[in-house]
Amino acid sequence: MKTIGILGVGKVGVVIAQLLLKAGYKVLLAGSGSPDKIALTVKVLTPGAVAVTKQEAVKQADIVILALPLGKYQTIPKDELAGKLVIDAMNYWWEVDGDQPDLKDLTTSTSETIQKFLPESHVVKAFSHIGYHELHDETRPAGAPGRKAIAIAGNNEADLDTIAGLVNDVGFDPVIIGPLAFGIRLEPGSDVFGAHVEAAALQSMVDHFPQTELGKKVLSARK
Ligand SMILES: NC(=O)c1ccc[n+]([C@@H]2O[C@H](COP(=O)([O-])OP(=O)(O)OC[C@H]3O[C@@H](n4cnc5c(N)ncnc54)[C@H](OP(=O)(O)O)[C@@H]3O)[C@@H](O)[C@H]2O)c1
Repeated sequence: MKTIGILGVGKVGVVIAQLLLKAGYKVLLAGSGSPDKIALTVKVLTPGAVAVTKQEAVKQADIVILALPLGKYQTIPKDELAGKLVIDAMNYWWEVDGDQPDLKDLTTSTSETIQKFLPESHVVKAFSHIGYHELHDETRPAGAPGRKAIAIAGNNEADLDTIAGLVNDVGFDPVIIGPLAFGIRLEPGSDVFGAHVEAAALQSMVDHFPQTELGKKVLSARK
């Protein structure tokens, strides 16, 4: 049984925790403050999960999921995350995150920024493009008609395979789209952002990215 630590006990952190618990994973949850602050939320919404500190969640976990506001990424316990497999489920949302030039920079995906901040960790982007409602409502067993897909981007094949397995376990078809740099194809402003579609449709949106408005801006910024 794998242990998953989730940093961020908000809308998406709670739903991911629920799906993982249902799939038989052990789940540790940590918010911005002490475990006492989230104890009731965890007890009521994710029974079976354990409320811990950020440091404890990271230390005990095989895989850590970042489900906090992206603008707070510098509060992530960087040293404890060395050597860990990390899922970046975060997006830059300026109303929440404020005006952050490093996160708006089109020459890099926000997951590459996270990888740069966590140089000793293995960062994979996943669970970022699908809204928490759909994440909650659209799970299906493998092979079921209409099963929805979740895109995954990362630089290491073994890490991608591990996260693809986890995505499959919680009820979605994994679609590996390429390296972390391709994470920008999933970010707000892309066709994929907010999409809850089947694997073929998802792949086709990813492939179409260079022709979109955001895709053209990215190409121009990277010239
Ligand atoms: N909402 C969605 O449908 C959705 C879907 C996919 C991805 N995402 C992405 O997931 C991230 C979280 O979104 P959300 O909608 O779940 O936000 P949310 O409901 O506002 O929850 C954010 C959570 O993160 C916690 N947090 C804040 N700073 C933290 C820190 N330094 N360390 C640990 N936890 C911290 C907050 O706890 P406190 O209350 O203690 O500050 C809160 O519980 C965002 O980057 C978002 O773009 C969201």
